[in-house]
Amino acid sequence: MPWDPIQLNDGREIPSIGFGTWKLGNGDGPISQVDQAISLGFSHVDTAQSYRNETEAGTAIRESGLARKEIFITTKYSGLDGLDIKTSIKNSLKNVRRFSFSFLLGGGACREEFLGVDYVDLYLIHHPRLAVPDIPTAWKEMEEIKEQGLVKSIGVSNFEVSDLAILLASAKVQPVANQILLHPYVYARQLPILEYAAKHKIVIEAYSALIPVTSLPGGPVDAPVKAIADRLGVSNDQVLLAWTKAKGAVVVTTSSKKERLLGYINAGDLALTEDDIAAIDAAGAKGPPFIPFTRKTIVRWAVATIVASLAGGVLSMCLEDYMIQRSKQ
Ligand SMILES: NC(=O)c1ccc[n+]([C@@H]2O[C@H](COP(=O)([O-])OP(=O)(O)OC[C@H]3O[C@@H](n4cnc5c(N)ncnc54)[C@H](OP(=O)(O)O)[C@@H]3O)[C@@H](O)[C@H]2O)c1
Repeated sequence: MPWDPIQLNDGREIPSIGFGTWKLGNGDGPISQVDQAISLGFSHVDTAQSYRNETEAGTAIRESGLARKEIFITTKYSGLDGLDIKTSIKNSLKNVRRFSFSFLLGGGACREEFLGVDYVDLYLIHHPRLAVPDIPTAWKEMEEIKEQGLVKSIGVSNFEVSDLAILLASAKVQPVANQILLHPYVYARQLPILEYAAKHKIVIEAYSALIPVTSLPGGPVDAPVKAIADRLGVSNDQVLLAWTKAKGAVVVTTSSKKERLLGYINAGDLALTEDDIAAIDAAGAKGPPFIPFTRKTIVRWAVATIVASLAGGVLSMCLEDYMIQRSKQ
C-alpha cells in the first residue's frame, strides 16, 4: 500500500492521501470527479461547508457503493451563516434546510448542503478566526460533538503555533490534525508548526502542495524537482507529493484528470533520497519567483483580499452568493 494510513492521537487512522473538493463547484461535475477519485483508489474525501459541495461529495460517496467505514470523510466548520459548530455539523450531516441570506439579497434560492451520512471521520475548525467567541469555547463545542458521536475525530486547520498553544491549554481532547498550506516555498515558514505538531502528536495535513507547478512555476524549486523527476521517470507533481509525504504530512490534493490522479496515487511509492529532499528544501527557502503585477493579478489580489477579510462570518457568504448570482444576470 503506497500511501499507508497514519495513526492519529485518538487511536484512529487517517488515509495519508485525500481528494479535496475545493473549487469543484456544484452539480454533476463534482459528483463525477469525487466518483472518479474513489474508483481510482482514493478512500479519503476532504470537503468543507464553505466549498458548498458537501452534497455532491456525499452523493458520490453514497453512490460508490462502498460501506461507510471504507471512506474517510473530512469536513470543516467554516462559520457559514454565522451558525455555531453544533448546528453546523448537524446541517453538514443531515438534510436540514439552511437559511441563506443570499435569498434576501435577491440572489436566488436557498441551497441545502448535507453529506447524508451519520458521522464524519474528521471535523476541522477551518480557520482560527472562526473559533468564536474564542478558541477554548469553540473547542469545547468540538469536544461535545465528538462525545455525541457526530464526528469521530476533531482537529483544526490553518492554526499557527500560538493558536495551538491556546487550544491545548484548555483542551480535554487533543486535536488530531492541523490542515495547513505546505509546499516548498512555505516550508521554512511553516516549520515551527510542523515541529510543534510533532511534539504534541498532531498530524499535519498539507494542502496546495502543488503550488510550485500550478501558481508559482519558474522559481528555484523547478530545477531540483525536474532533475529528480527526470531521474526517476516521473512527473513534477509526483515529486512534489513525494516531498510532502516525506515531511510526514497527510497530502490533500485534487485533480479532474484520471491520469493525474493515478500519478498522485503512484507517487506514494516514490522514495526520495535525503539529498533530494534537502535540494528541494534549499530551493524553496530561496523563495517563490517574482510575479510581475499585471492588471489581472491586481484584480485577483484585491478580490482575494476582500473575500479573505470577510471569510470569517456571514457577510462573506452573502457577498459571494450575491456576486455569483449577479454575474449570472
Ligand atoms: N483547509 C484549507 O484552508 C484548505 C485550503 C486550500 C485547499 N484545501 C484542501 O486541499 C485540496 C487541494 O487544494 P489545491 O487544489 O490547492 O491543491 P493542489 O494539490 O496543490 O492542486 C491541485 C490542482 O492542481 C492542478 N494541477 C495538478 N497538476 C498540475 C500541473 N502539472 N499543471 C497544472 N495544474 C496542475 C489540478 O488541476 P486539474 O484538475 O487540471 O488536474 C488541481 O486543480 C482542496 O480541494 C481542499 O480540499 C484546504
